[in-house]
Amino acid sequence: MPEYVTVAKVADVPSGERIVVEVKERYIAIFNVGGTYYAIEDVCTHDDGPLAEGELHEFEIECPRHGARFDIRTGKALSMPATQDVERFDVRVEGDDLQILI
Ligand code: FES
Repeated sequence: MPEYVTVAKVADVPSGERIVVEVKERYIAIFNVGGTYYAIEDVCTHDDGPLAEGELHEFEIECPRHGARFDIRTGKALSMPATQDVERFDVRVEGDDLQILI
């Protein structure tokens, strides 16, 4: 059953920043865009590239390996060479903690 898990402090992810956390043996990228948090799996569906190391264009993260783009709000694959979406996770703030549903 998915549950909310504390993965970081709110202060760890200022606006415009991102971090990668390991939770339940998975790597999750958490982004703060203008005070709203988004979380997706940090593994490109094309060939396992580390998405959080890519450039963020508004809500699109570009894989640093071959340039596939994903929407960090939905996990949707937006361009080749990726054809499968990445998983996205709900994020919530509890006091000073950032939690994701995983
Ligand atoms: S590993 Fe991400 S585009 Fe190839």
